[in-house]
Amino acid sequence: MFNKKTIEDIEVGSKRVLVRVDFNVPLDEGIVTDDTRIQAALPTIKYLIDHDAKVILCSHLGRPKGQVVPELSLRPVAEHLGGLLEADVSFAEDCIGAEAKQAAEKLGDGDVLLLENTRFHAGEKANDADFAKELASLAELYVNDAFGTAHRAHASTVGVTEYLPAAAGYLMEKEIRYLGEALREPEHPFVAIMGGAKISDKIDVVKRLLEMADHLLVGGGLANTFLAASGYDLAESLVEDEALPTAREILEGAVDKLLLPVDLVVATEFAADAEKKTVPVDQIPSGWQALDIGEQTIELFKSKLEGAKLIVWNGPMGVFELQPFAQGTFAIAEAIAETEATSIIGGGDSAAAIRKAGLTDQISHVSTGGGASLEFMEGKTLPGVAALADKDS
Ligand code: 3PG
Repeated sequence: MFNKKTIEDIEVGSKRVLVRVDFNVPLDEGIVTDDTRIQAALPTIKYLIDHDAKVILCSHLGRPKGQVVPELSLRPVAEHLGGLLEADVSFAEDCIGAEAKQAAEKLGDGDVLLLENTRFHAGEKANDADFAKELASLAELYVNDAFGTAHRAHASTVGVTEYLPAAAGYLMEKEIRYLGEALREPEHPFVAIMGGAKISDKIDVVKRLLEMADHLLVGGGLANTFLAASGYDLAESLVEDEALPTAREILEGAVDKLLLPVDLVVATEFAADAEKKTVPVDQIPSGWQALDIGEQTIELFKSKLEGAKLIVWNGPMGVFELQPFAQGTFAIAEAIAETEATSIIGGGDSAAAIRKAGLTDQISHVSTGGGASLEFMEGKTLPGVAALADKDS
C-alpha cells in the first residue's frame, strides 16, 4: 500500500514547488540519447503546470563528486524538456544562491525552471543541512518524483523534507505501487530472471527472489560466477572470485529453483568482431570468454517463462550492446513480451534492451530505477520515500 501524500493531496496553485526528478539521462555531446526518465516525469510536471504551480525542477546528472563538470550540466536537458512540453523551460546555472533565487522568484504560475546539477555541490551527497536548507528556500512545497534516486539519502531527496511539506509525484507513486503490489503477494508461477555483470550488487535480491519465486533464471556475468561456484572452468570469462563462497552457499540452498545456462556463446575477446562459437558450459576453451547465453539455454529459459503469471527481469543475459552477443537478451525480452504474465523490468540495461527491441508497450511495467528497484526488491526501505509525509499526517 502506498501511504504517502501525493501531489493531489497538497494545494499547489500559485505556489513555488521544488520537484526532485531523476534526469540522470545519457547525453552524447549535449544531446539526450534516451529520454525515458524525462518522459516518465511529464505527468507530474504537467499536473503542476495545469494547476498553476511555479515549477522548480532539480536533479543530479552523473557523478561529478561535488565539482562543476561542464559535460554534466543539465542545460541540454532543459532544452529537451522544453521541446517535450512545447513550452519555455528556463535554466539556472546553479541550484542554490542568488541566481537560483532570482530565477525562482521570476516564475509566473505554470512556469517551469530547471536548476543546474545538484551534485555540483558536495553538500548534495553528504545530505548537508545548510545546503538542503538553501535548496528548500527556493520553494514553499516539495515533491519527490525521482524514483531512480529514492535509494540515496541525499540533500535533494531527504534533507529538504526537513524544511518543506513533502509529497510524492505520480512516477514515484506508480513505481512503488507496481513493484510493491506485485511482490507483496506474488502471483504464481512467478519467474524471476537475473543477469548483468556483477553478482556482488545482486546477492541480496537473488536471495529474496529465491524465497518468493518458483524459478530464478540466471544469465550474464552473474551466471558465470554461479557456474564457477558449481565447479565449471570459465576460462577467461568474467568471474567475481570474492563472491564465490556466497554463490556456493546460495546454490546449496536452491538447487531446484535456480537455473543456470547449459550452453554459452564464447569469444576470443571482448569485441564485436571476435571469433565466436556456442559451447556447453563444461567445454569453454582455454583463453575464451562467455559473452552470451546459448540456444539451448534460451529454449530452457523460454520453457520456464511459458505459463508464468508474474515475471520480474533485471539485467541482460549477455553483452547485448555488442550485436553478436545480443541474441540471448533479445530472445528473453521477446519471450517475456509474448506471455500473458504481469511483467516487471528493472535496471537500466534490461529496460534499454526492451526499448531497443521495441517491446516496451508489451511489458506491464518498465521501471525507471536501476539501483532503486533492486533495493526495493530486496525489501529495503528507500530513504527518499520514507522521508515523505504520510497520507494521514
Ligand atoms: C541511477 O541512474 O541509478 C540513479 O540516477 C542514481 O544514480 P547514482 O547511482 O549515481 O546515485
